[in-house]
Amino acid sequence: MSEQSKPFYITTAIDYANGSPHLGHAYEKVLSDVIARHQRLLGRQVHFLTGLDEHGQKVQQSAREQGVSPQQFCDSVATQFQDLCRLLDISNDDFIRTTEARHQNVVRALLQKLFDKGEIHKASYSGFYSTRQEQFLLEKDRNPDGSWPEIYGNVTQITETNYFFRLAPYQQWLIDHIKTHPGFIFPRYRQKQVLEFLNEPLNDLCISRPRERLEWGIPLPFDETYVTYVWFDALVNYYSATVSHPGLWPADFHVIGKDILVPPHAVYWPIMLKALGIPAPKSLLVHGWWSVNGSKMSKTTGNYVDPVAFSAQYGVDALRYFLVREMSVGQDSDFSHQQFLARYNAELANNLGNLVNRALNMTNRFAGATIPAPASEPAPGTPEDALAANWNQTRDDVLRLYDALQYHTGLERLFAFITATNAYIEQRAPWKLGKSADPADQALLQTVIATMTEALRLAAVLLTPVTPGTCAKIATVLGVPWGVLHKPWLEQLHWGTALTGAKVAPSAILFPRPQPQK
Ligand code: ME8
Ligand code: MG
Repeated sequence: MSEQSKPFYITTAIDYANGSPHLGHAYEKVLSDVIARHQRLLGRQVHFLTGLDEHGQKVQQSAREQGVSPQQFCDSVATQFQDLCRLLDISNDDFIRTTEARHQNVVRALLQKLFDKGEIHKASYSGFYSTRQEQFLLEKDRNPDGSWPEIYGNVTQITETNYFFRLAPYQQWLIDHIKTHPGFIFPRYRQKQVLEFLNEPLNDLCISRPRERLEWGIPLPFDETYVTYVWFDALVNYYSATVSHPGLWPADFHVIGKDILVPPHAVYWPIMLKALGIPAPKSLLVHGWWSVNGSKMSKTTGNYVDPVAFSAQYGVDALRYFLVREMSVGQDSDFSHQQFLARYNAELANNLGNLVNRALNMTNRFAGATIPAPASEPAPGTPEDALAANWNQTRDDVLRLYDALQYHTGLERLFAFITATNAYIEQRAPWKLGKSADPADQALLQTVIATMTEALRLAAVLLTPVTPGTCAKIATVLGVPWGVLHKPWLEQLHWGTALTGAKVAPSAILFPRPQPQK
């Protein structure tokens, strides 16, 4: 993370506009948002892009089924996705739609440039075409029995004249690029699949669709009887969004799911850019897929999680926390209501929520709602000293894990510290100290209140990229002074007495007990 001068530019995939947002879309946005917020907290200037992929056969079909124009259809879907971003507290700086003029103009300009360079040629092609996947299939795509796999839907043989972009001249360059840029594909183990694909000679990429077959697309600038193949159009969004922001390119991270790594992001996109003389993105961050209750998520079978309904029921941060805590970046994970509730209860309500309640309760009962200074510096060997040492180690570990995008283990580590803080409170039993008239007990009580509130403040600061709303609320109920809140993030992570004199709220319910399921 050097080159401090260039803004950190992070993108998500742009979602297909042919349906409503689902859990996979929510996850990708939350993961990207956690990274974006983390980088901002580290003092980096960040530009975070998300958006919608609005062209293609499926959108044209869905619009037709609803009896509206494709543009009207896309406008209503775009509203849903933009609402989702706001609801999930996604801090995107821009939202690009591929039907916008700013995007279409760039796609056409890049196509013209490739055409003028002689990279695009016209040819007649006969092959098996999948409307559902919007691609020509190869013999190797067939099932062993000769049929086509279900994912391709209806497959028909067609012969048509189209425009093609030659990939093969850049094949060796791409192989070398991947080998000399080990960070290009993250996690590293995903490289294998890309290099295997590149073992076979690359076919020319068909970049056009005749308009008589597909109307809803960007017309080719050099032949308006064709529209642009949807992937060639969609990939360009990452670049077209930067034309009004000089100095953003190359992107630091394209966050994408594993299904769109090979070939679009790992092969087409770097080759398109290379042919145009534009630098490749620095890194493709490839996440795994969520299943629901152990099987593929599907709206038709009802095995489906609606992120909007879920956040409404349990709170946005409970969903954000679960998604980031449960999934190791790169691996697949399963989403079940049961597992969600298990973490909600054990980690959010009974661990973090309990610490918040205790901190407010003890400060109100025994310190007149004002956080006291500790009666003494933590002496070696005391529980206070042990908790402060635990914090220093926790902070260093978590920062290192966040940097390595190991957010799930970072959270595990951070919540172990919250557990240790609750254990510390039980050990010191401030509710007992409060009943004692002994001045030594009264002095210790002040120290215990100062210690538990400081531990809570620090945990909340470190949790901020994941659950920003909840952490802001914790800061508010603890009365964290403005001056402390506005120090650089890393400086807010030092154990100390920043809260001395702060006025706390009477109470706060961050994670209400979920209603029993009907
Ligand atoms: O692929 N779990 O759009 P899309 C996790 N428009 N992630 C999932 C998922 C799941 N169950 N299902 C989908 C497209 N995703 C193209 C992208 S980019 C120039 C064009 C992820 O709406 C998926 O892997 O089908 C992808 O990264 C994103 O959601 C959008 O998928
Ligand atoms: Mg998809």
